[in-house]
Amino acid sequence: MLQGKKILIGISGSIAAYKSILLTRLLIKAGAEVRIVMTPAAADFVSPLTLSTISKNPVITDLFTEVSWSNHVMLGRWADLMLIAPLTCNTLAKMSSGVCDNMLMATYLSATCPVVVAPAMDEDMWHHPTVTSNLKRLEQFGNLVIPVEEGELASGLFGKGRMAEPEEIVLYISKQIGKSRDLEGKRALVTAGPTYEPIDPVRFIGNHSSGKMGIAIAEELAARGAAVTLVLGPSGQPVSENILLKKITTASEMFDECVSAFPAVDIAVMSAAVADYTPAVVAEDKIKKTNGEFTLQLVKTKDILKQLGELKNSQILVGFALETNNEEQYAKEKLVRKNADMIVLNSLNDDGAGFGVDTNKITIFRKDGSVEPFGRKSKQQVATDIVDSIVKMMA
Ligand code: CTP
Repeated sequence: MLQGKKILIGISGSIAAYKSILLTRLLIKAGAEVRIVMTPAAADFVSPLTLSTISKNPVITDLFTEVSWSNHVMLGRWADLMLIAPLTCNTLAKMSSGVCDNMLMATYLSATCPVVVAPAMDEDMWHHPTVTSNLKRLEQFGNLVIPVEEGELASGLFGKGRMAEPEEIVLYISKQIGKSRDLEGKRALVTAGPTYEPIDPVRFIGNHSSGKMGIAIAEELAARGAAVTLVLGPSGQPVSENILLKKITTASEMFDECVSAFPAVDIAVMSAAVADYTPAVVAEDKIKKTNGEFTLQLVKTKDILKQLGELKNSQILVGFALETNNEEQYAKEKLVRKNADMIVLNSLNDDGAGFGVDTNKITIFRKDGSVEPFGRKSKQQVATDIVDSIVKMMA
């Protein structure tokens, strides 16, 4: 399952550290090569000697020993995946803010591989807003979080915060590492985020799109080997360096970037929330208020998805639809009107779908008439479902 894969385990100081013995054993049994780095506090819970015996490699706890300096950069580069389990509240806070005061942190900060974390804490800590926001920040860095489980906690209380069981963790990382490079050699174009349409030098018309869904799709396409161009409207979300990023502001700039990139791509996913209207004229100076009413004249923006549908040769063209009513009918009409191969429908009637949330619930409508609804998932998992569906269509 993990034959020949190099897994670097980072252990921080929680009572759940005892599970790292079984975790290491399971990874070795699955064929992985395991190296371990521990925080000094973790060594109070589980012995480095036990772990080095099981992993058949020395366990690193210090940045410096009396005789040598541990090379955290090479360790971070050696790994195919870094797994931090258990992840304590303290190490989480350091990861979120970049504190580098031990070997685990130095390795994390220099790791170039995917990083997966398995948090472990008491329920009250788990629900603290700093933990929630630190985990969110880690996800923004692209780190993957294995959900905690509910059960008996070290405090004797019962609730949320238990680290996932070692078997679950091994399953999770096997899936992650086994992600196929099924889009190697393909090129993709993705749009994401809102557009801002200027009214005058200080005002604009915009919308609440965060760009998260489109960025997750771009990241998934790139992780599976595609060369990705992302045309991104104003968004504060981070984007991996292996994606060619074209930052734009207006619908018209997005249109130009897409039309010029489209002929060379195999896949185009239009997930941006493009403004449908833009001010007819942009005032050169700031508009001053007057006593009377103020009317702004708007003109239609050019429909990028529709234009690409007209230019389409063999590309797979995917559009999005965000609806509040008659969802199915509108999605099907959009498929035909825009000559798309697939429409991904978000219904604003669904909890946990749409703008500003980290989850989404979609239904995919395909050109062949098939309709596939999915459950509520993280935006990363939704991106995997969408890309799986594109790959199937290309087969
Ligand atoms: N889209 C686009 N260019 C535009 C407007 C929208 O490429 N100027 C794309 C979006 O990225 C999305 C899809 O078109 O993939 C959404 O279709 P759209 O017709 O804009 O749907 P709504 O915004 O929901 O508007 P309506 O239903 O009123 O047509």
